[in-house]
Amino acid sequence: MTFEQLFGTNPLVRASAPGRVNLIGEHTDYNGGYVLPTVIPQRTVVELARRSGGRVRALSVNAGKPVPFEYIVGTESRRGRWIDYLQGITWVLTKAGFGLGGADIRIESTVPLGSGLSSSAALEIALLRAFRDAYTLPLEDVQMALLGQRAENEFVGAPVGVMDQMACTLAGPGQALFLDTRSLDWTVVPLPSSAELIVLNSGVTHNHAKGDYRTRRAECEEAARRLGVAQLRDLDVQDLPRVMELPEPFGRRARHVVTEDARVLAAVRALESGDVEALGQLFYASHDSMRDDYDVSIAEIDLVVDLARAMPEVHGARLTGGGFGGSVVMLVKPGTGAAVASRIAADYAARSGKTPTVLVPE
Ligand code: GLA
Repeated sequence: MTFEQLFGTNPLVRASAPGRVNLIGEHTDYNGGYVLPTVIPQRTVVELARRSGGRVRALSVNAGKPVPFEYIVGTESRRGRWIDYLQGITWVLTKAGFGLGGADIRIESTVPLGSGLSSSAALEIALLRAFRDAYTLPLEDVQMALLGQRAENEFVGAPVGVMDQMACTLAGPGQALFLDTRSLDWTVVPLPSSAELIVLNSGVTHNHAKGDYRTRRAECEEAARRLGVAQLRDLDVQDLPRVMELPEPFGRRARHVVTEDARVLAAVRALESGDVEALGQLFYASHDSMRDDYDVSIAEIDLVVDLARAMPEVHGARLTGGGFGGSVVMLVKPGTGAAVASRIAADYAARSGKTPTVLVPE
């Protein structure tokens, strides 16, 4: 259904934001560390018309329900459904002092949900951009990223870091966003033309408002407390002997974060010198660390990575995003992406019984 068929008028604004794929730097953002995401071509599009009064009517064509959800700005309440992301945005904008009226909203997305590719942040940032444009709100990019994160933390109830919102706001095609999540300093690093990316969705979904992500975050905070630092970011590889004296599972959790921060810095150096072989090895090392130390991989994802390891065209592969399902990012020889992706997808489907999707190359 088009916006006009739904609401009997044309939208005033049309805004969008991309999904992201994290190249490396996983579970480092809520520890004050480094991340290196880029965008994927899939996007979330929000069409919005202003309404007088405070009523919001919203429909997501991906959510399956043909009837718009309705509420009044200022009366948001959590429902445990996709609509919480929208309610979270009007809630956080109001909290931050941005006066809003009502809106008619149509949402359509090609970012797969719960697949480690940041469908949540794409929706948050697309909504923030639409409200900014429709209501001429003086919002800057980093401020929007922080508001999106706050909506997700405080309204939706998912204790996520800031990587996804920053990536969806600031990263662009063909470049990685190198972000220090503590200072919020960032630069963009061009992706080399001497390699190609594959992003393969395993078809196993996750939900970060549920327990496992929260547990990992709490374990990191406890490890930092026991080690006497504000955040795990304050440690480096020289501290590993001390880190590994912590009891289970805190030592392994902290070791993942400390080594992953070091891998992000090494990955930036590899990108800058065009060393795709080294970058690929860092992908594999990151995956092993997420599987063995952080315990966020699953059998299906390990299978995809192992299939990748067996192919000479692949430089490296790893679980991307929060884990417990989701997608794998691979670095492959230029010109081989489409063929390698379809071979791995076919082998994976045959062995796992799951339905994979190749998001990149499109
Ligand atoms: C999810 C969160 C991010 C980050 C990743 C793991 O995508 O939204 O903030 O913590 O998991 O790196």
